[in-house]
Amino acid sequence: MRDMKVLVIGSGGREHALVWKLKQSPRVSAVFCAPGNGGIAVDATCVPIKISEHDALIAFAKREGIGLTVVGPDDALAAGIVDRFEAEGLRIFGVNQSAARLESSKVFAKEFMLRHGIPTAASGQFSDPEKARAFAAAMKTPIVVKASGLALGKGVIIAETHAAADVAIREIMEERKFGDAGAEVVIEEFLDGEECSIHALVDGGSYLLFPSAQDHKRALDGDRGLNTGGMGTFSPADKVLPPALEQRVRTEVLDRFVAGLKADGLDFRGMLFPGLMVTADGPKVLEFNCRFGDPETQVLLTRLESDLLDLLDATIDRRLAGVAPKWSSEAAVCVIMASGGYPGAYSGGKEITGLADAKATVFHAGTKRDGGKFFSAGGRVLGVTALAPTLAEARARAYSAVDGIAFEGAQFRRDIGAKGL
Ligand SMILES: Nc1ncnc2c1ncn2[C@@H]1O[C@H](COP(=O)(O)OP(=O)(O)O)[C@@H](O)[C@H]1O
Ligand SMILES: [Mg+2]
Repeated sequence: MRDMKVLVIGSGGREHALVWKLKQSPRVSAVFCAPGNGGIAVDATCVPIKISEHDALIAFAKREGIGLTVVGPDDALAAGIVDRFEAEGLRIFGVNQSAARLESSKVFAKEFMLRHGIPTAASGQFSDPEKARAFAAAMKTPIVVKASGLALGKGVIIAETHAAADVAIREIMEERKFGDAGAEVVIEEFLDGEECSIHALVDGGSYLLFPSAQDHKRALDGDRGLNTGGMGTFSPADKVLPPALEQRVRTEVLDRFVAGLKADGLDFRGMLFPGLMVTADGPKVLEFNCRFGDPETQVLLTRLESDLLDLLDATIDRRLAGVAPKWSSEAAVCVIMASGGYPGAYSGGKEITGLADAKATVFHAGTKRDGGKFFSAGGRVLGVTALAPTLAEARARAYSAVDGIAFEGAQFRRDIGAKGL
């Protein structure tokens, strides 16, 4: 029966993909998004409530009779939005505040991994800068210095020299460049290898592994330039994570993760998205994210043939063990079109043309709509996403759509998915 109203919280490309997919559910009657963006407003009713306004979100969900709220961003989870909704008797998808510490505290995550034998980089953790410096001084370079808390994906510094590690420790811990996120740091060995994104729904006792995906974090072709929120993704990423390695991810990461939850009494129901480095010694966890990836969600949901609502329901109700969704055997590619200058300073308000003719699914990450026209309104603006029988064809389709879309200063990579070929 089509009688369920859903509310998606967030305003980026990931949330647009969640809205787009949930709207296709035969059980969903209406999709709302708070606060959403210009493109999301085409697929959902956007409500102007900020992610941090929990009371207003709860009041809206009650007034509108929302049957399920789905949380996109990490900061909402870390702020305890799930605990608040549940205390009000409202159904919500996402991890509770206690489980969200696996993302919001890299120290907490590291201790969890060590306690439960999950492979990760050798490291030390410090709240005293003197001790952090002494530890780094005894390490081989490059040295990885991480602010423990949430730092908008900017709190990790790869120091090529001991002097650079000292600077990073000073800036993070003493100058508090990332605020309180830098009260503690993790200092770890540099791992060589290829990165890969894993997604698994976890219901506290079981998990459901999604296909693999690979992100492109650097701004420029050939993995050069500054780190960004992600310039594009493709799925599957079976060249970096072939079946034998995926099996190791199951036994060494996910099985141990779920056993660790039970041992520690953590009620983790939601999406687990570990960032992996696939090294010569096998997969190692760089970090745990406790929500859908952005822009991984754009390619994963494009490949998902089953109803996403069923999967979210099974997670909340601890029924994942019996669930086997259908995935397209085709490949998906998402190319991010960003504002010129991103991830540095950029200006918005540029008119976007060519959207209506695009032969791809265009997820909006940062746009505004004004009188039927769309304008850029963020660093990442669009995620142009195509599905095709092979990765090469999916790339060709995505780039052909990108070439038909324009806005002043548009910046994107030409090599998304190339390393998967
Ligand atoms: N131990 C490591 N060795 C090599 N590169 C690393 C290591 N840890 C992190 N990185 C790099 O830094 C990026 C960000 O680190 P991550 O732990 O994912 O933190 P966040 O996403 O919160 O910034 C990773 O995607 C990876 O490219
Ligand atoms: Mg990361």
